[in-house]
Amino acid sequence: MLSKEMEAALNAQIEKEGFASAQYLAMASWAENRGFEGTAQFLYRQSDEERMHMLKLFHYVNDAGGAAISPGVAIPRKDFESFRELFEVILAQEQGVSERINALVSLATEQKDHTTHNFLQWYVAEQLEEESLFRSILDKLKIIGNDGGALYMLDKDLQGNGANKGSKTAP
Ligand SMILES: [Fe+2]
Ligand SMILES: [Fe+2]
Repeated sequence: MLSKEMEAALNAQIEKEGFASAQYLAMASWAENRGFEGTAQFLYRQSDEERMHMLKLFHYVNDAGGAAISPGVAIPRKDFESFRELFEVILAQEQGVSERINALVSLATEQKDHTTHNFLQWYVAEQLEEESLFRSILDKLKIIGNDGGALYMLDKDLQGNGANKGSKTAP
């Protein structure tokens, strides 16, 4: 049985994952309207993944005797200065999520809530993957700079990238 504090903390995380899904969707639109077709497809997949993260938490809260709350949708950011800035925003967002997951794990430890602690390990692994993926994309963008041809290649690259991501850790 979840404590009230844990239930509230998990519901707060449900909201964050829902927002991440909405943010990736807004980013996909930005990329699609600028001709970055591969990147747009990549971001649409990320948006779907975040919704899956949200639902996984949602079902867990109800299964563990709490009441999952369907979050309201905050308006995500829809404009970005550049391709590179977009990925900087993504990495910062993912790092923020990792911090919150870590805080949830600490709370589970404090409360000796081993079930939730065990459940959260999937998110710990997932965040490591996401941060490393976006760090590597940003590294490439730093090399590319404003080279249009290289940017075009990276966009093509992203079309397939992340397609199998998550399969390693998916339930
Ligand atoms: Fe997530
Ligand atoms: Fe994520």
